[in-house]
Amino acid sequence: MRQPFFILIPISILMGSFAFPRPNEPCESPANRLESELHLNSSGEAIYEQWCASCHGTNGRDFLERIWKLGSQQEDLERVIASGHPLLGMPAYRDALSAEDIRNVAEYVLSKAKESPSFLAAPPLFVQASDIQLRANIIADGLDTPWGMDFLNDTALIFTEREGKLWTIQSGIKQEVTGLPHDIHAKGQGGLLDVMHWTESENQQNWIYLSYSKNHPNDKKLSATAVVRSRITKSKQGFKVDEWETIMVATPYGKTHHHYGSRLAMGNDNMLYITCGERGLRDVHPQSLETYPGKVHRLHPDGKVPQDNPFVAVTGAIPSIWSWGHRNPQGMLIHPETGAIWTHEHGPKGGDEINVLKKAANYGWPEITFGRNYSGTVITRDTAKVGMEQPLHYWLPSIGACGMEIIHGDNWPEPWQNNLLVGSLSFEYLERLVIDSSGRVSGREELLNDIGRVRDIARNQRGDIYVAVEGAGLILHLEPILEN
Ligand code: HEC
Repeated sequence: MRQPFFILIPISILMGSFAFPRPNEPCESPANRLESELHLNSSGEAIYEQWCASCHGTNGRDFLERIWKLGSQQEDLERVIASGHPLLGMPAYRDALSAEDIRNVAEYVLSKAKESPSFLAAPPLFVQASDIQLRANIIADGLDTPWGMDFLNDTALIFTEREGKLWTIQSGIKQEVTGLPHDIHAKGQGGLLDVMHWTESENQQNWIYLSYSKNHPNDKKLSATAVVRSRITKSKQGFKVDEWETIMVATPYGKTHHHYGSRLAMGNDNMLYITCGERGLRDVHPQSLETYPGKVHRLHPDGKVPQDNPFVAVTGAIPSIWSWGHRNPQGMLIHPETGAIWTHEHGPKGGDEINVLKKAANYGWPEITFGRNYSGTVITRDTAKVGMEQPLHYWLPSIGACGMEIIHGDNWPEPWQNNLLVGSLSFEYLERLVIDSSGRVSGREELLNDIGRVRDIARNQRGDIYVAVEGAGLILHLEPILEN
């Protein structure tokens, strides 16, 4: 079910200058005075000064020379004013103001903005899917390589840049979180990778987990996938971390700079799951239980090994291993309804695959694969073997899968519920996969075509979907446009 797909960028319609209502001159008659006061009360300017100026400055100051995030046309402003935007810190006025008041104040803001000669129209990005239209709001731009994202709460996003920076966005303000580990190996595919927020339920302590490629302590040519955590607290200056505890280092350190894997997720069993790529050493790691790379690991949140892990009693086996035979898994999620752990991984040429993880299962790399070497030569003709798992889905050709989320929340229409979203690095779009009731992929659709290399996708408790795009250096908020 490949649907035709296109992005509509509506031509911005310049609205000309507005003659917004000015209060009438005071008149003698009380009736007239009352009328003029009523008029004054509903004028865009009066509403603005009463409701908006405390945050946006008097006379629409904040909207002069603005780079619009949510669109710069009358209808965009009306929508934002009515619905608000929690992550950006913009309140919703649907209940406080009438539709007419919202129209007037939007007109006022736009007229002020257009008084500035440097007014820059910013049409929102509309995305036409097969069944509905979506809107992609640009929440952050000018980034290098945004790699991992998570929500601190519904109004605060935390994200990494692979080059070695950690940022939060709250109330529309991007702030750096300083004090990162000093041994980040930012080379090749390595650097600061995923970030995960977790609240410890017993004491409401907030933790941040980071995965990154870590320098060998004595030899910076060598690196390993590593996971650390720190408490995170909110202060007046923003979010702060303190000391980093090491949770896992996926030894042995290696010379290659690729296939670190690195996705983090907290399971419903309150265990931390970590994906590790095989570091490009397919004949060394994935089929050995004695090394970390090419596996998915399971640990207590403090890094201790759970005693019910499958290989704890096997001599020589790494006890944190949960599943093995993986290549480079860069997408992981906990299914919101079943609690199952879904991963996807890059295959070679062909054979990117989605797996639903099972304890102790071997996913077969490189013994079985639907892919070939990048040169086109055969790796193995086997696509199945006894004792090795079949994927839920595989892509031929490979899309270069990265990041994965599942749609779940009232703000999305029914046919989208439980659909998967997966980023494509190779073809630079966001893929929607429809999963049927038997858990199989029954439809695929390309969204955000040509947007850039889609690296990560995040969903908050409300069901809001955010997409990180490298190259373009963007974080987008994707929202369905539903009929009222
Ligand atoms: C509590 C503070 C607050 C109040 C009050 C408030 N806003 Fe906002 N508003 C924000 C913040 C924060 C943003 C995000 C700013 C940013 O990202 O640059 C925002 C964003 C917006 C945007 C989107 C701008 C864009 O770049 O696309 C519009 C339009 C807007 N506000 C209009 C209004 C109007 C009109 C009112 C009054 C009815 C109002 N706001 C009241 C805080 C506020």
